[in-house]
Amino acid sequence: MTSSTGARFAFRVGLTTLCLALIPALVVWLTTDYVPKRDLWVARLTGYGAVGMLCTSLLCSPLIQWAGNRMGIIWRGRLNALRRSLGINAAILGGLHALSITTSFYDQAWRHLMASPQTRTGMLALLILALLLLTSFPPISRALRLQTWKELHRLIYAAALLVVWHIAYSSRVAIPVLFTLAALIVLLLLSRIFAFIFQTRISRR
Ligand code: HEM
Repeated sequence: MTSSTGARFAFRVGLTTLCLALIPALVVWLTTDYVPKRDLWVARLTGYGAVGMLCTSLLCSPLIQWAGNRMGIIWRGRLNALRRSLGINAAILGGLHALSITTSFYDQAWRHLMASPQTRTGMLALLILALLLLTSFPPISRALRLQTWKELHRLIYAAALLVVWHIAYSSRVAIPVLFTLAALIVLLLLSRIFAFIFQTRISRR
């Protein structure tokens, strides 16, 4: 009962945020005449949409960790399900971003995906997000007999760091945005490491 309420809540919030993230890209695509400008903005909007979803999904973990007991079981369940929905959105938007880059900038020449450090880091981040997307569906993780689902999903931090690396190659990125993003992801990663150390010390006592 509680988990299905949480799943429904996360589905609604996940779908709404996905639509909201897609609207600016759709408006640009429908209204811009100059094709290179249109393609660049669609790629940037879907790329930043994916980054936003990824960071919000990562922010759910410390929130569950530190405020979980005060929030009660319903909100804990909702946040858990929301973390998954936002991760799925990040993979979808990251995929759309990569698709828009490949079909417009690179004129469908898929070999360009391996051509530069920027595309290689983006590709690796996307592969991780796709792996996490697939294994976040219980029937698939059951079919793959995954025992270490939780550990596998820690790879999301590797994907986030790769995304920062990927964006750092862009000549258009605003430096304050890049540093804020990098600092946020490092802080979130450190908070997870400290939480892990704290928990293992408590369980040893
Ligand atoms: C196969 C995977 C990917 C490829 C080939 C790729 C390729 C690119 C390229 C070529 C650019 C530069 C566009 C330009 O400014 O000229 C770019 C920018 C960007 N990418 Fe990706 N990308 C991939 C995956 C990702 C993923 C997974 C994310 C986020 C989760 C992402 C987020 C971004 C963002 C936010 C920018 C804009 C940076 C800026 O100019 O301000 N990319 N990507």
